[in-house]
Amino acid sequence: MFDIQEIRSQFSILNRQVNGKPLVYLDNAATSQKPDSVLEVWKKYYTELNANVHRGIHTLSQLATEEMELSRRKIQKFINAEHDFEVIFTKGATEGLNLISYILTQKLKKDDEIIISYLEHHSNIVPWQLLCERTGAKLKVIPIDENGILQLDYLDQYLSEKTKVVSVNQVSNALGIVNPVEEIIAKTRKNSDAYIVIDGAQSAPHFQIDVQKLDCDFFVFSGHKMYAPMGTGILYGKQEILESLPPFHGGGEMIATCSFEGTTYAALPFKYEAGTPNVGGNIALGAAVDFIEKTGHENIQRHENVLLEYAQKQLLEIEGLKVYGEKAKRTGVVSFNLEGIGIASDVGMILDKMGIAVRTGHHCTQPIMDFFNIAGTVRASFAVYNTFQEIDLLVEGVKKAQRMLS
Ligand code: ALA
Repeated sequence: MFDIQEIRSQFSILNRQVNGKPLVYLDNAATSQKPDSVLEVWKKYYTELNANVHRGIHTLSQLATEEMELSRRKIQKFINAEHDFEVIFTKGATEGLNLISYILTQKLKKDDEIIISYLEHHSNIVPWQLLCERTGAKLKVIPIDENGILQLDYLDQYLSEKTKVVSVNQVSNALGIVNPVEEIIAKTRKNSDAYIVIDGAQSAPHFQIDVQKLDCDFFVFSGHKMYAPMGTGILYGKQEILESLPPFHGGGEMIATCSFEGTTYAALPFKYEAGTPNVGGNIALGAAVDFIEKTGHENIQRHENVLLEYAQKQLLEIEGLKVYGEKAKRTGVVSFNLEGIGIASDVGMILDKMGIAVRTGHHCTQPIMDFFNIAGTVRASFAVYNTFQEIDLLVEGVKKAQRMLS
């Protein structure tokens, strides 16, 4: 039984007012709010367990280690990884993507190719450009059509023995488009030996992930977009691949032995977890997984899809409003502009006065904005606690902005 008021009651922040109006939080693709259960686990770590992990014989260190490793196992189950040591704690999807692109450096040479898509966030573009600069490899980009849908016949053309990496997102942050990653992975496996990287920053909050079924080599996501604290994230990598690649950061925790003559590296996952981790955050990420599982993946997805459909229908009734990716399969996001109103942030500011939080601008996806020949969009993005009444307020706010700015 899905009870939206019961869900909302778990998020204290939703009771606050902004600019004298009840908060309508529709910026979930940037970061979601955190349920009280996650905040309590985080607070409990600092009030009862605070100690460094994996290095103390004392009780608190052991308890903190146990809690963090329990969280790792929850996340392993959450994404259906084969082993818990394939789950690496990071500070977010961006760090995961940078890590992967860095450790693949020795695997690429001049004129090798890396395939990404037009729908990528800058964090799945720039690390690969840096890798190209280091190695002389070339970047190839799968184009989109006017609906924002990936043109996969280009992938067919691009894939060859030169392809060393294919890295795409499962859901676009700017438009909410759900990309056919299963098909991309199948085509890539068939036509190349490339490493396959999936950016799940915008999919993990919305639907069930199964890395074994996907058969990707790497999968990254951020905790803070899926009800966990900021500064948390996960890099999943297949055991044999992570074992075959060099470390990223050097430092404490990631060594087996260290002397001035040389260093040997720790086993997974610690080889990729140099330095003191975000222990409280990582434990709280496990609590966010508990929240999602208790709420139910199906309930979350169904509710968010119905909200999206409702929002799109209401918004499209506004004359001169264009939704980007209108006809594409999407989740959690509606990205739009009003005809004749060139600056999306003007709309965002009027909405903010009404207590409605949306994101405006290029959403760290400038190539998509260039494709549509716009500077940015207004983006409303949904989470499990959003309501139809909130969508009505958004629509009312957009109409008001249109009246004020026309
Ligand atoms: N990548 C985040 C967004 O799409 C911050 O807003």
